[in-house]
Amino acid sequence: MVDPRTSVVEERFSGIGRIIAISSGKGGVGKSLVATTLALMLARKGCKVGLFDLDFTSPSTHIILGAGDAKPKEDKGLWPPEVSGLKYMSLIYYTGDKAAPLRGVDTSNALIELLAVTRWGSLDFLVIDMPPGIGDAVLDLIRLVRNIEFLVVTTSSPLAFETVKKFVALLKDMKVEVLGILENMKMNDSDSVEAKTKKLGVPFLGEIRYDPKVEKAIGREAMLFDTAIAQEIKEIVESGLC
Ligand SMILES: Nc1ncnc2c1ncn2[C@@H]1O[C@H](COP(=O)(O)OP(=O)(O)O)[C@@H](O)[C@H]1O
Ligand SMILES: [Mg+2]
Repeated sequence: MVDPRTSVVEERFSGIGRIIAISSGKGGVGKSLVATTLALMLARKGCKVGLFDLDFTSPSTHIILGAGDAKPKEDKGLWPPEVSGLKYMSLIYYTGDKAAPLRGVDTSNALIELLAVTRWGSLDFLVIDMPPGIGDAVLDLIRLVRNIEFLVVTTSSPLAFETVKKFVALLKDMKVEVLGILENMKMNDSDSVEAKTKKLGVPFLGEIRYDPKVEKAIGREAMLFDTAIAQEIKEIVESGLC
């Protein structure tokens, strides 16, 4: 059966220039911090940016942003509130700030529903914070959002890189655009992730060192701009994104 929401989703995304999903094979590698900082940095450069938290396992960008009690407005759909210069939408507006008690097909339905009801209007960039791994959310987004691009985050650990390798191979098999791999929380000088990334045939976007200032910057935008994450992301953005 054709799901009528599919064409609605296409319509909802039609005014958006680039759609970048921040993903990884693993959790805890820094996806949410990278997604939030990237969105803020693009907005700081003058681009119109949306941030969409679709991590069913643990939505956290509202905490990083210190989004307070901003809420979407309802008018023939949900209009994302403005938070720190971004149009901001999160699953927490759907589930409340509670764990989402959803099983596979329900997760998929909630995701499609959220994609179909959210009114982004026109944007230069939509940054999506994804759940870890190759699950329903990734497969649904690839199916529903034409021209989605993936920025894949790994740590220096071979355990993280192994899952990222499989993730990237799947994206390539599915002919999905991979913007590149970003190494986070780096604590040594090894260039092994860079070398392994090049072997996969995708761009190595850069490395972010482990920075103890990051924890204190959560919920404080100004401090976030003073972290190693922001420094590296600024370079990526200035190298031609916005
Ligand atoms: N470069 C970094 N330096 C220090 N701590 C970091 C860095 N990147 C992420 N963290 C910390 O690692 C944890 C996981 O980050 P998070 O963005 O929530 O990862 P994910 O979204 O992949 O689960 C958080 O406690 C975060 O503050
Ligand atoms: Mg996260």
